[in-house]
Amino acid sequence: MRSRIIKNKLLLEGKTKKIYTTKNTFEVLIQYKDSITAFNGLKKKFIQDKGILNNEITTLIFKFINYCGIKTHFIRKINNREQLCHKVDMIPLEFVVRNIVAGSMSKRLGIKEGIQILNPIFEVFYKNDKLKDPLINDHHAVFLEIISYEELNTIYSILSNMNNILKKYFLDKNIILVDFKIEFGKNHKNEILLSDEISPDTCRFWDKKTMKKLDKDPFRIGLKKKEEILDIYMEILKRLNVS
Ligand code: TMP
Repeated sequence: MRSRIIKNKLLLEGKTKKIYTTKNTFEVLIQYKDSITAFNGLKKKFIQDKGILNNEITTLIFKFINYCGIKTHFIRKINNREQLCHKVDMIPLEFVVRNIVAGSMSKRLGIKEGIQILNPIFEVFYKNDKLKDPLINDHHAVFLEIISYEELNTIYSILSNMNNILKKYFLDKNIILVDFKIEFGKNHKNEILLSDEISPDTCRFWDKKTMKKLDKDPFRIGLKKKEEILDIYMEILKRLNVS
């Protein structure tokens, strides 16, 4: 029988997750909260049970990615709100992969949302609340001594692989993977592991038939009630559970 995982000390609290140490120095417990935020936390609400949904959605997707042979921080789900993960030092960069023009790319470049991108675009954002997570390029990231060119190449190759795998995984569930954001960390052996979460908070999902937005965007633009947001997240979970 598996021993019970005990939360030791709160290591970090983010906008939607808390990270605790465990008895094992190489493992952490990640707990999903019920908060939903946008615009760097300026807009914030609590949606009862949203954390349970994101924990389950992230678990299903990370299990699949692990199964496909990509190394991630995910070990297993412990309960409704918590998962056990390998402890990593997070690299303070957000990587966005775009298959279809939407969101900030559409605004920045003045291109209509919905246009297909034949060669997926990778973007790098510097995780820095004070600077509001600016878009940077590889050279800035290396200059800031956050990462090396070699590590960036490793990450781009993981992103490309992951994007191909996930596009197909979601399409089989009638979901178009428009774009997503992901983060990486380094374990005690200095290996780069795909980390963070993968959920409607961090991806744009459009319904294949109706193009309805099945992600956090309706909250970002302030169109939906809490129950409607929860329904969207439940719809994604329902589709992931159909194999
Ligand atoms: P963007 O179009 O606003 O740059 O967002 C690109 C993708 O990244 C989208 O799927 C939403 C996700 N995202 C996050 O997960 N966290 C963030 O803080 C932001 C701005 C976007």
